[in-house]
Amino acid sequence: MKNRIEELEEKTALAQLGGGQARIDAQHKRGKLTARERIALLIDEGSFEEIGALVTHRSTNFGLEKQKFYGDGVVTGYGTVHGRLVYVFSQDFTVVGGSLAEAHAQKICRIMDLAMQNGAPVIGLNDSGGARIQEGVVSLGGYADIFYRNTLASGVIPQISAIMGPCAGGAVYSPAITDFIMMVEHTSYMFVTGPNVVKTVTHEEVSSEDLGGASAHSVKSGVTHFACANEVELINNLKALLSYVPQNCEEEAPALPYTPGNEKREKLNTIIPENANSPYDIREVITEVVDGGEFLEVHKDYASNIVVGFARLGGRSIGIVANQPAYLAGVLDINASKKGARFVRFCDCFNIPLLVFEDVPGFLPGTDQEWNGIITNGAKLLYAFCEATVPRVTVITRKAYGGAYDVMNSKHIGADMNYAWPTAEIAVMGAKGAAEIIFKKEIDEAPDKQAKWKEKEQEYADLFANPYSATERGYVDEVILPENTRDKLIKAFKMLENKVATLPRKKHGNIPL
Ligand code: HXC
Repeated sequence: MKNRIEELEEKTALAQLGGGQARIDAQHKRGKLTARERIALLIDEGSFEEIGALVTHRSTNFGLEKQKFYGDGVVTGYGTVHGRLVYVFSQDFTVVGGSLAEAHAQKICRIMDLAMQNGAPVIGLNDSGGARIQEGVVSLGGYADIFYRNTLASGVIPQISAIMGPCAGGAVYSPAITDFIMMVEHTSYMFVTGPNVVKTVTHEEVSSEDLGGASAHSVKSGVTHFACANEVELINNLKALLSYVPQNCEEEAPALPYTPGNEKREKLNTIIPENANSPYDIREVITEVVDGGEFLEVHKDYASNIVVGFARLGGRSIGIVANQPAYLAGVLDINASKKGARFVRFCDCFNIPLLVFEDVPGFLPGTDQEWNGIITNGAKLLYAFCEATVPRVTVITRKAYGGAYDVMNSKHIGADMNYAWPTAEIAVMGAKGAAEIIFKKEIDEAPDKQAKWKEKEQEYADLFANPYSATERGYVDEVILPENTRDKLIKAFKMLENKVATLPRKKHGNIPL
């Protein structure tokens, strides 16, 4: 007869094996790692402490009564990433397809409760066939228990979802509530209804990959913030992301050591093209300004007319929002507004100062934009900036036109410091359009209309296509040489590091959703 120690060893070995070696092999054949292999990649070696390894499923119908799966298809626990505490759950597709059942959900909820109580991020490694069909409504209840916790935890602790296999049906709404979604190309997908239902209802034929794969969600829907070539790349990105964020909303992100040195960056003097309508890549400005040229871009393939991501300045973590003149001239449209707003709100939740690079010709005109709600969606970005109480600094590199000037972190809506390069143009609109409207009569009556238009355009440009009217009114604090930008920003953020700002007392605001 087995003694107690042998019994424990046997159960532990069974738990470690998930659905068994054949199912592990099948998982590898699908091009996926197992739940435990993923945890091993993520968590610092030797630091993982599993919780609930011997919890078993409650399902006793449809054959499940014959088998006993320790862990119930999810590995949960805590450990450290770069020495910092995180809580993690990792769904085990080898056990009943990683499907979510009562005990499985309870294990995830326990991890989330501990994370909330102890103020550390929750990381979900998702690989699941969805609600366990054998358990019925209990699984649905389990999902709702998780959604509820996701919502309560939002803004309290960072929540990151890695999608490393299927994530379908209502299951998608847990990742959707979390702060960041990461996906693996070709082996993960997310959709509310799969290709079969789509075909029945709309007669569209579409593959899982095209409908809800990593590229669909990184480029088209914007649901995922990172599309990664493989699981290892995903885990590396996830660790990098964690390095920029604090443990919870009461803390600050960890700073790296910084020794002041020569902060002049002469290359910045030559990035803006001679012709004010020529494009340039704002990422060149960003990487030249930030520490070590390191920039973790978020939502890289979505709404490319705005660039958002994390970097460090003088060792401290900052969030960057920048118009991208290299794509659609950096115009603000619906998707760019949503992307920017979501990022600003994340940074504000977690005390990450915001740096804005502005070069924006305005909001995108057209029926498509108007009918799809550029008013409501553009207001999201405006609202997000207005509400943000973290240190906020703007650098206007070139155009700051129209309502977009106000929206892009102007001092009027609470930015702390506003700098402009000598190439800045701050006005209601571009000189050509402005001349056409305000000098219409004069142009119409002139013998040479084109020449008059040009003359009036120049007149308007001379008066407004510069940073000085705004600076004279104090809307811009200083016109700076591009080469001094890094130095000015390090000093400004240092000066602002103890900023205290509060919002009026309220239950919560009503962001235009
Ligand atoms: C129970 C499931 C399961 C599920 C998969 N399995 N999903 N068991 N409940 N939801 C089991 C399979 O029966 C199989 O068991 C094993 O997991 C592996 O699945 P395969 O089909 O062999 O794998 P693969 O070919 O890779 O296909 C994966 C899959 C497919 C696309 C996820 O299994 C599938 O379509 N599953 C059903 C998905 C689904 O409709 N889920 C419910 C969604 S509704 P064996 O023993 O044969 O290896 C939902 C509502 C949530 O989730 C609502 C929240 C509000």
